[in-house]
Amino acid sequence: MRAYVLEHFGGPEGARLIDVPSPAPRPRDILVDVRAAGLNPVDFKFRQGKLRAILRPKLPFVLGNEFAGEVVAAGSDVTRFRVGDRVFARVAKDRAGAFAEQACVDEVHAAHMPRDLDFATAAAVPLAGLTALQALRDELGVKPGQNVFISGGAGGVGTFAIQIAKSLGAHVTTTASRRGEALVRSLGCDEVIDYTSQNVSNAGRRFDAGFDLIGGKTLEQMFEIMKPGTKVVSVAALPEPQTAIKDLAGGRALAAMFWIVSYGIRSRARRAGISYRYLFMHPDGSELAQLAELIEQGRLKVVVDKTYPFAEISEALAYVERGRAKGKVVVTMS
Ligand SMILES: NC(=O)c1ccc[n+]([C@@H]2O[C@H](COP(=O)([O-])OP(=O)(O)OC[C@H]3O[C@@H](n4cnc5c(N)ncnc54)[C@H](OP(=O)(O)O)[C@@H]3O)[C@@H](O)[C@H]2O)c1
Repeated sequence: MRAYVLEHFGGPEGARLIDVPSPAPRPRDILVDVRAAGLNPVDFKFRQGKLRAILRPKLPFVLGNEFAGEVVAAGSDVTRFRVGDRVFARVAKDRAGAFAEQACVDEVHAAHMPRDLDFATAAAVPLAGLTALQALRDELGVKPGQNVFISGGAGGVGTFAIQIAKSLGAHVTTTASRRGEALVRSLGCDEVIDYTSQNVSNAGRRFDAGFDLIGGKTLEQMFEIMKPGTKVVSVAALPEPQTAIKDLAGGRALAAMFWIVSYGIRSRARRAGISYRYLFMHPDGSELAQLAELIEQGRLKVVVDKTYPFAEISEALAYVERGRAKGKVVVTMS
């Protein structure tokens, strides 16, 4: 089968589309004919070697973290899926393998695709959709009537986050450039700050929950606009000890390393009277089924910016790497 394989860490030349053997399903795995795969910033960060401290992959390694496709075989312990089912999944972080004509996934990480959704649109959901759900509902516990601030609302995660925060009953403010403003408003965002001309600190109100997709100065400014005692969850800044313990099942050494790297951010948050959490999202088939239900009910739209043929996956990844995508980027296999 064709697969996009990482041969060495670094620039785009480190990954190539080549022929490799199909993966063999483990007892709890389904083997899927991949019809489309979603791309994410984690794919180029992984290629650059930025996640080596956490994931330690052995090269060569088939890249790709989410897909949609059709089940062609099931391991002996699989109970929820049958050959012919249309499924989508965020695969386990240490297995990846979605940028391929066939991929295996543990059945607990997969869900049935929303009815009436094509493969390309379904492939755009798992990673970004689950990230937004886990941050807003599970980590921040967003409640009706709360003011929620989301930085970077026009990208892959942001387009899900705005809608999920709205569906939880929040009043939502986000940052976007003029290129993204119409999109975020169309998704229900109440207030938009043009980050190219305005400072986040001028938001004009205090927030009950913050979800950061940008990091750096934006995150620091977010600390200034939160109500005391509230929490900011970032997926774009630096990991902290809870990331090691809760998200990565890591030991004390990893937690200590993250304590050191996040010291500055945590100190700033503490001075502002708020708590800081870096979330590393996790695959979850039952949560993905909840997103599928929202999509079927017409309460969650999937925004796909560009779709590329699989043969052009390097171009697709270069587009994601430029950081201007409005919604998600997808490759289709056939
Ligand atoms: N930890 C985790 O589990 C996890 C999970 C998912 C994602 N992430 C991380 O979360 C971040 C966002 O992911 P994504 O998929 O949403 O990225 P993305 O789709 O590549 O985001 C692109 C969007 O960001 C906007 N943007 C760029 N700079 C901005 C700024 N300074 N302020 C506001 N908007 C800005 C761009 O709008 P303009 O073109 O209009 O500027 C563009 O529409 C990435 O760093 C990713 O690695 C982490």
